[in-house]
Amino acid sequence: MVRKIGVLTSGGDAPGMNAAIRSVTRIALNNGVEVVGVHNGYRGLLEGSFEALGRHAVSDILDRGGTKLGSARLPEFKEEEIQDKCIKNMRREGIDALVVVGGDGSYRGALALTRKGINCIGLPGTIDNDIPGSDFTIGFDTALRTCVENVDKLRDTSSSHHRCSIVEVMGNRCGDLALYTAISCGAELVITPETGYDELEVLERLRYLSDAVKKNHAIVIISEKICDVEALAKKVSLHTNFSGRATVLGHIQRGGCPTPTDRMLASRMGEKAVDLLMEGIGGHCVGIIENQITSMPIQEALERPRASRKHLYRLFDRLV
Ligand code: ADP
Ligand code: F6P
Repeated sequence: MVRKIGVLTSGGDAPGMNAAIRSVTRIALNNGVEVVGVHNGYRGLLEGSFEALGRHAVSDILDRGGTKLGSARLPEFKEEEIQDKCIKNMRREGIDALVVVGGDGSYRGALALTRKGINCIGLPGTIDNDIPGSDFTIGFDTALRTCVENVDKLRDTSSSHHRCSIVEVMGNRCGDLALYTAISCGAELVITPETGYDELEVLERLRYLSDAVKKNHAIVIISEKICDVEALAKKVSLHTNFSGRATVLGHIQRGGCPTPTDRMLASRMGEKAVDLLMEGIGGHCVGIIENQITSMPIQEALERPRASRKHLYRLFDRLV
């Protein structure tokens, strides 16, 4: 029987993590289960940095970005010795199950703890939308809103100056944030790990848009870690009739108050996590698949190929 549930947020923070903490806390308390917040991801387990969460401790956080509990990366958590120390601290605190909100690295940590006897449930919390067991992750919709708001602004100034705006968005080798932004903003080009990158082709396309289609501006959305966007912007100025300007949206994509979609997602997923733990299930992760809240073993989720985005790339091409 579960008496005390721990909750932590791990990896890069994402808007909606607070809504997940609130949901886990309120649902558990309403079931007569105590809740402990763990500070700074797995680091808090190692340092024994815990905080009892009553219902008022999670008031006024539903609409706030970031994470009330703090987040961190703890590479040493892969070591068994460190995991054993964490288990000891959890047992001392009376924590007998744990909800981990984070990305696939955090899921691996949750699986390791489950195998060592503490049931854990993973919730997908990352702006990257790169978790295989879920169509959407907590934080993606809010980051997308931020991207769209900013690219809309860039379009205003680009079209006044016959410019090509090259906008780098995050995603950690997943193209979703770039693709969804490109479709939502009517971009002229999208470059992601899935599309591949050929500089000459990009310049050729921009020349065509400027000289043949007579576009007075162009927006290029590009995923991070593909190329140096400042260098690309200079080449655009040199080799096309657009003047190129680069914008790296950076960490503003991680902040801001969560959208209602992310609040709903986090609240629904938090509920599912507590229900699973109360049924004695561990080592699972929660997802949303075709708008249904689902769960599956973490191992299975990690091995699943990601759903194809071909139809969305095709849509992008048909809209240009
Ligand atoms: P994310 O969870 O967003 O993918 P990371 O990959 O940085 O972010 O993982 C977050 C944390 O999860 C790491 O700092 C580490 O503490 C833990 N972690 C990552 N990979 C593993 C692993 N293979 N085994 C155990 N814990 C891991
Ligand atoms: O995983 C979220 C994310 O924002 C990625 O999109 C990005 O690559 C990375 O984290 C940035 O990490 P950091 O916050 O350590 O700079």
